[in-house]
Amino acid sequence: MLNDIDSVLIDERKLSDIVKDLGKKISEDYKDKNLLMISILKGSVVFMADLIRQVTVPCQIDFMAVSSYHGGVKSSGVVKILKDLDIPLEGFDLLIVEDILDSGQTLSYIKKILCARKPKSIKICTLLDKPMSRKSPIEADYVGMQIPDEFVIGYGLDFKEEYRNLPFVGILKQSVYS
Ligand code: IMP
Ligand code: MG
Repeated sequence: MLNDIDSVLIDERKLSDIVKDLGKKISEDYKDKNLLMISILKGSVVFMADLIRQVTVPCQIDFMAVSSYHGGVKSSGVVKILKDLDIPLEGFDLLIVEDILDSGQTLSYIKKILCARKPKSIKICTLLDKPMSRKSPIEADYVGMQIPDEFVIGYGLDFKEEYRNLPFVGILKQSVYS
């Protein structure tokens, strides 16, 4: 597994600092709100687990699964709901928690369908942001770190469902996917 990695982009210590910072900001902003954090499976599950433990205000969590990649390294643009939320969204201040914002097609779609369910507010928190590869006009309200347009894995992020268990974020060798 480690042989497939070009370099470590964000090590464990840096990830922990990033998540602490985000948790602090979110805790300040959602003091008097009705926070519902929605993790987009499966990529954001490691980030979500760490982030909710840095949030000091009351919050609920839920999970949603979508697919857009079908095993490649570029988004197909076709997003399918694989698992929907369990609860209605009226009265909640939603915070969508995503691993990475790339073309933006996945989050644009998710935001649109969740907006239609009339939550009180809706914001996006992404661990990683690749601003150079955006195709849909969407930005996150909370960004852990902006990264170059490289394919990264680890800390929840996968290539063909593998590498999610790496404790750091690394750049995948091009030879693995080309
Ligand atoms: P988008 O629709 O292109 O913004 O794609 C977002 C989704 O694609 C993310 O939630 C990831 O699951 C996946 N993705 C995008 N870039 C990467 C990457 O560099 N590594 C792993 N997954 C990625
Ligand atoms: Mg994902």
